[in-house]
Amino acid sequence: MRLSTYRLQLIKGTYEFVLKELLEKYPKAKIAKKSELEISFSCEQEDIEIFRNLYSPTHIKDSEGKTLNLSRREWRRAFVFAGINPSLAYILCMIANLNKEDILLDPFCGSSVIPISALKYFDVKRVICLDISSKAIYSSKENFKDAGIEESRYKLFKSDIRDTKLSKRNVDKIVSNLPFGIRVGEHSSNIDIYRSLEVLAKKVLRKKGLLVLLTQEKKLLREVFTKEEWNVKSIIRVDEGGLLPEVFVVKRK
Ligand SMILES: C[S@@+](CC[C@H](N)C(=O)[O-])C[C@H]1O[C@@H](n2cnc3c(N)ncnc32)[C@H](O)[C@@H]1O
Repeated sequence: MRLSTYRLQLIKGTYEFVLKELLEKYPKAKIAKKSELEISFSCEQEDIEIFRNLYSPTHIKDSEGKTLNLSRREWRRAFVFAGINPSLAYILCMIANLNKEDILLDPFCGSSVIPISALKYFDVKRVICLDISSKAIYSSKENFKDAGIEESRYKLFKSDIRDTKLSKRNVDKIVSNLPFGIRVGEHSSNIDIYRSLEVLAKKVLRKKGLLVLLTQEKKLLREVFTKEEWNVKSIIRVDEGGLLPEVFVVKRK
C-alpha cells in the first residue's frame, strides 16, 4: 500500500494534544517529524479531505501543497472581538475530559465557540452560556442555530458575572476563555470579575467538578483561587498572536 505524507500545523504549545487526537483517530499514522509548530506523518489515506475530522490542529497540507484550514468551523459565522481560535477551544474541551453526562458552563461565552464545540464534538448533555454583552449573546444565538443544536441543550443569559443569579449546583465543568485585560477589559475590573468567578464556581460546581480556564492574568487567577481551597495547575502555555496565555485546570481541594 502506498503511503501519503501530510503536515499538520498547530498552535505553539498544543503539540501533545494534536498528537493525541491524530493517533486516536488514525492509529496507523507514522510520525515522521515533529516540532513545536508542525507534525509530519504518513499514512495510507490518500485524500486529504478525510482529515476534516481533526479539530485540534490549525491546518493540514499534503505533499502537493493542498491545504485545509482545520480551524474553520462551518457554524462559526458570528464573531466577537478576542474570540478564541476554534482549534484551541477544542483543546480546552480535551483538557476538561468532557463526557456525555456533563453540564458545561462558559460564563464568558462570547460567540459560544467553546460550548458549541463541547456539544458538537464531545456530545455533552447541556451547556449554560453567560456574557455581559448583547452582541455576544446575539452572535451565540446565530452560531447555535447554524450548528443545528436543539434548543433544549443550551441556555443563554445576558448577564454580568458580578451579579448573575445562577445558583443551582448542577455544573460539572466550567470551561472558559477569560477576559485578559489586554484586548478585552482592564486589569482593575478583572479583579472583581475573577473574584466573582471563584464565588460562582463555589456555588454551582458539583463536588467533583473542575474548571479549565485560558487566561493571561496568571497571578490574579492564583490569588483568587487560593491554595487553601483550590488546586491550580497550569497545563500548557500557548502562543496566541504574540500573547502567551496559559490553560489552567482548577479543582477543589
Ligand atoms: C475573551 S472573550 C471570550 C470569547 C469567546 N471564547 C469566543 O470565542 O467568542 C471574553 C468575554 O467575556 C465577556 N465579559 C467581560 N466582562 C464580563 C462580565 N463582567 N460578565 C460576563 N461576561 C463578561 C466579554 O463580553 C467577552 O465576550
